[in-house]
Amino acid sequence: MEVFAQRMRLPTVPVEMVQEALAVISNPDIQKKIMDPTDLYGFVSLWDANLPRLRQWLEGNVAPLVWHLSLFKRDMYIHKDPRTRSRIIYILDPGGENVVTRYYDDDKQTLLETESLGRENWVVMNAARYHDVQGIAPGQYRYAITARVHSRLVG
Ligand SMILES: [Fe+2]
Repeated sequence: MEVFAQRMRLPTVPVEMVQEALAVISNPDIQKKIMDPTDLYGFVSLWDANLPRLRQWLEGNVAPLVWHLSLFKRDMYIHKDPRTRSRIIYILDPGGENVVTRYYDDDKQTLLETESLGRENWVVMNAARYHDVQGIAPGQYRYAITARVHSRLVG
């Protein structure tokens, strides 16, 4: 059976670093990068977000990847992540009680799986399959730490 999202037994991010990461979105410089009201979502690297403690903790305790914060302001349409086969995600705030990631076949219509990624647990998801995100509550954000695990050259 195909696995779309795999939970990983990895350490929980220390609470003070979660708070630091959550607080950074109220920083005006970061808001400029990720809060453009015309954009559906925003990404900022932990380098650019100036979160060196979190970056070093992730590199040492999870994997030496290029870590980002991602912010979805509304539900995300069906897509494949560009140039990405797998993505590791740690949800800081799901953006609502009923937020799900849904996976589709290549026809973009046949629903294959619906999953909640939960909160504050590590998930590796198959980003090369079509997927969307549904259920973000009005005025809330889905906020996550994320990194590309496997790249792919095309698509
Ligand atoms: Fe995606």
